[in-house]
Amino acid sequence: MDTNHIPIFPEQASAIAGSVDGLYAFLVLTTAFFSLLIAVLIVYFAIKYRRRSDDYIPGPVHGGLALEIIWSVIPLGLSMVMFAWGASLFFTESRPPDDSLEIYVTGKQWMWKLQHMEGQREMNELHIPVNRNIKLTMTSEDVIHDFFVPAFRSKSDVLPGKYTTEWFRPTKVGTYHIFCAEYCGTRHSNMIGTVYVMEPNHYAEWLATGGAQGSLAQRGEALFQQLGCVNCHQTDGQGRCPNLIGVFGKPVRTNVGVVTADASYVRESILNPGAKIVDGYQNIMPVFQGLVTEEGLQQLIEYVRSLGPTASDVTRIQPGGSAGGGHALPPGRVDPDPKGKGVSPPQQ
Ligand code: CUA
Repeated sequence: MDTNHIPIFPEQASAIAGSVDGLYAFLVLTTAFFSLLIAVLIVYFAIKYRRRSDDYIPGPVHGGLALEIIWSVIPLGLSMVMFAWGASLFFTESRPPDDSLEIYVTGKQWMWKLQHMEGQREMNELHIPVNRNIKLTMTSEDVIHDFFVPAFRSKSDVLPGKYTTEWFRPTKVGTYHIFCAEYCGTRHSNMIGTVYVMEPNHYAEWLATGGAQGSLAQRGEALFQQLGCVNCHQTDGQGRCPNLIGVFGKPVRTNVGVVTADASYVRESILNPGAKIVDGYQNIMPVFQGLVTEEGLQQLIEYVRSLGPTASDVTRIQPGGSAGGGHALPPGRVDPDPKGKGVSPPQQ
């Protein structure tokens, strides 16, 4: 990147960057136009209606209905345009497309840790292919951070205790800045990184250089055995905990109503199993808060995702196969409707 000057606008390197800049230009131009208009009118009227002599008394002024309607309706219309335009962009940025390449991001004071589905892990660097939708699933180990890539016009808060998402479609090969955009302590300004947008073949080569320890789902499976989860979450439905096959992404009937078994739900069910109990099961699973790292949770989630809902060709869990004997884990979680028939809406 050119270090001799700081550009007024960052490069437009994502599919949405042009639209964001369009809205921004509209806001700036509208604001500038009215600021100028008002400033000029103030000066003009101050001169035109100035006091001509010490004993001059001006005539009374009455309202002008037409004038008042005009200066109400025009700003209303303009602000509605801003609202609709901004809301439409906001919704686009809030909804990652289904075909997105998913990557996990964990923020902590003061670094970014990233995990790819194929198993590669990076720190303060993100390698992605050009012209693919990229979805980041993000969380924090400590305080609030914010993952910001100015060239993509894309940013989202990264919160402890939950997942937030951010997506973009990079359109230009190159390197771009990552900033933390939420003040998070002494070295906040050092919490930076680099996005490498690569040609698909270069990206494939890069992918092939890592992941020696297996994909995220494979690491999750190892963790699943190691933590003893496998002892209760048996795949034959005979365990004390719900069978996890075919569950991910499906509605689950629980004591607090029907919820979707997404990443946030699986995460919560590991850390705090009592929060939502699957119908027909008891709250006997131990709490894993503090026992699994955020990255471990991401691996477990990917393992559960790999089990379904199209579980025909995935590795089946072998009950009792945990490394080192695993402590007998009591139960708690997931699965509503293993046959995938769908669940009726909550009765509230
Ligand atoms: Cu992390 Cu600022």
